[in-house]
Amino acid sequence: MEKLVIEGGQTLKGEITVGGSKNSALPILAATLLTDEPCVIRNVPKLRDTMTMLKLLRSLGKTVDMVDDKVTILTKGELNHVADYKLVSTMRGSFCVFGPLLAKLKKAKVSLPGGCVIGVRPVDLHLKGIEALGAKLEIDGGYVIASARQLKGKHMYLGGAFGSSVLATANVMMAATLAEGTTVIDSAACEPEIEDLANLLIAMGAKIEGKGTPRLVITGVKTLHGVSYKIISDRIEAGTYIILAAMTKSNIVIKNGCYEHLMALVDALDQAGVQVTNDQGNVRVKVRGALQPVNVTTFPYPGFPTDLQAQFMALMTLTPGISIISDRVYPDRFIHIAEMNRMGANIRREGTAAIVQGVPILKGAPVMASDLRASAALVIAGLAAKGRTEVNRMYHLERGYENLDEKLKMLGAKVYREKE
Ligand code: EPU
Repeated sequence: MEKLVIEGGQTLKGEITVGGSKNSALPILAATLLTDEPCVIRNVPKLRDTMTMLKLLRSLGKTVDMVDDKVTILTKGELNHVADYKLVSTMRGSFCVFGPLLAKLKKAKVSLPGGCVIGVRPVDLHLKGIEALGAKLEIDGGYVIASARQLKGKHMYLGGAFGSSVLATANVMMAATLAEGTTVIDSAACEPEIEDLANLLIAMGAKIEGKGTPRLVITGVKTLHGVSYKIISDRIEAGTYIILAAMTKSNIVIKNGCYEHLMALVDALDQAGVQVTNDQGNVRVKVRGALQPVNVTTFPYPGFPTDLQAQFMALMTLTPGISIISDRVYPDRFIHIAEMNRMGANIRREGTAAIVQGVPILKGAPVMASDLRASAALVIAGLAAKGRTEVNRMYHLERGYENLDEKLKMLGAKVYREKE
């Protein structure tokens, strides 16, 4: 295993380019199961998670080839309907092969993904939506086994206790494209990644109205065809660099910055005294003076993203005063608190909120990455801290940030990999 060693306290300078969206790529790659025709997907980030999805597609019978950021997916022979525990358990995003497999093959056997460090993360909404389309479901041996002679369109409500679900919406929308009749999904996820998936499906011949809104209307078609499609930029990667620039008071240009998908972050930063501007995808960040504390609560899109909660908390650790950060999407996503406190932060958890009392400086320390976004938060905290930080279990970062150490080096950061 490798760790990322950071000599913090440098001001950074230069350009950093945001790659394709991981959370678009995963369902979009899964959606290619809906057709036998060739699909070419561009701007696919080379990440541990996207590689897992390509492995899963191969295990399901697709031929997959990746050159730079372009993935070509072909069908040779019969598809397999079983998504194995080994691949689904390493990445929850794998569960989004469920809808496409069932729609295409009329049967699917997909391992249940299980919990993870950011919370319990059930799949009841996925199952509810797929069942509403007329599938018979059974859980056996840790797998969901589904079959349907013909999926049938239905009007359904897909919200849960924590609001809409991104991947449940993806699964049901994908399944509904080949169902008979019209499906209406109320309380659909509005995330840009779901809109991106809808755009891909439309380009494959699907009939979808309402993309980007909480009501999706999908009229089933008999078949979908092949496609050449470019994935959107990763708003969470962009948001991470924006917060990094604010926290290190650096003059960085973030290219492919997807500003328009980050308005909740831009607004929170504005309240904190940080100006974020956009010039045709080149995003710049300017700290106006002393930072102000800001209370933030995460919500489904267009609310403040849970995937930027840890990074924003890192910024608030160096902001004078008290800020309160709550996560309404994953109320237990707070493992990073203990690690940030090891660096001298003053954060305490009270119920579903974290109370951050700003401190004048953070000091480098060995810390443990627990999940992808917590790791990113520890890296930006390490870059702003005085002295040496070691972020152990670097593989978490590789799930969602392509070449992060190389990109940071280009900005003048002193970061390097070492064996743990
Ligand atoms: N939920 C249910 N039942 C379900 C599904 C979800 O109760 O059947 C709950 C979850 O436990 C959570 C809330 O609903 O409290 C929202 O979860 P959602 O289903 O939207 O999450 P997801 O689709 O599994 C995606 C991203 C996550 C991101 C969340 C929220 C992918 C591959 N993953 O997960 O990304 O945090 O949406 O925006 O798209 C990450 O990239 O680091 C990451 C964790």
